[in-house]
Amino acid sequence: LQFTVVVPAAGVGKRMAADRPKQYLTIDGKTVLEHTLDKLISHPNIQHIVVAVHPQDPYFDGLPCRQQPWLTRVDGGDERADSVLAGLNMLAQQQQPDWVLVHDAARPCVSHSEISQLLALAEHQGQGGLLACPVRDTMKRANKDQPSLIDKTVDRDGLWHALTPQFFPFSALRTALSNALQAKIAITDEASAMEWAGHPVQLVESSDKNIKITRPDDLALAAFYLSLENL
Ligand code: CTP
Ligand code: MG
Repeated sequence: LQFTVVVPAAGVGKRMAADRPKQYLTIDGKTVLEHTLDKLISHPNIQHIVVAVHPQDPYFDGLPCRQQPWLTRVDGGDERADSVLAGLNMLAQQQQPDWVLVHDAARPCVSHSEISQLLALAEHQGQGGLLACPVRDTMKRANKDQPSLIDKTVDRDGLWHALTPQFFPFSALRTALSNALQAKIAITDEASAMEWAGHPVQLVESSDKNIKITRPDDLALAAFYLSLENL
């Protein structure tokens, strides 16, 4: 089976505080976005990628892969969920796929085997899901009025970090995202929209290497993880 990926890449990278959005910083002479796109398109079950970029993005059209037939550009929106929905709406006009993957531009270190494990959900469970990894540190809830004071310790058992890719039936995801956005529900990933709409969502355990490049130190760590892949 062949699948399509929507890649939200319309963020500004505030926490990275670089001279350009973090997806355009380079590792080994190649942008983070290209590392991510190459990782995805080289997976045997991925055939098309829709990238949501900022409407005024000056970088995307200059990428060497820009003219590839497997690549579609769409204008992203104010929030990540708006960017993802823009990608889904474009796909609704073009392909109307049964299933869709969503993967952050800022996660170049995801592995093919993790993607394969996630894709297997469709066949074996008929359910959507996401890559996730168990929380390892002790978790504290801060006091609302005094944010530097601990209110209590949150039971870590059963807590996971939600990563990407996330993988869902296309129509159900598009409906859930657009309804949740309309209802002004805080949506930080696709799963939260699906949970809100009452759909079951499977956790698929991922390695710790699938980091989201977020702060300056993450770039060197991602470069290290990517270098391991070529050994
Ligand atoms: N993203 C997007 N559209 C937005 C906001 C984010 O497509 N309006 C994308 C980012 O480009 C990134 C992914 O969603 O690939 C995850 O978001 P995040 O890590 O928060 O990236 P930024 O929003 O760019 O970073 P920051 O929150 O530090 O500004
Ligand atoms: Mg953000």
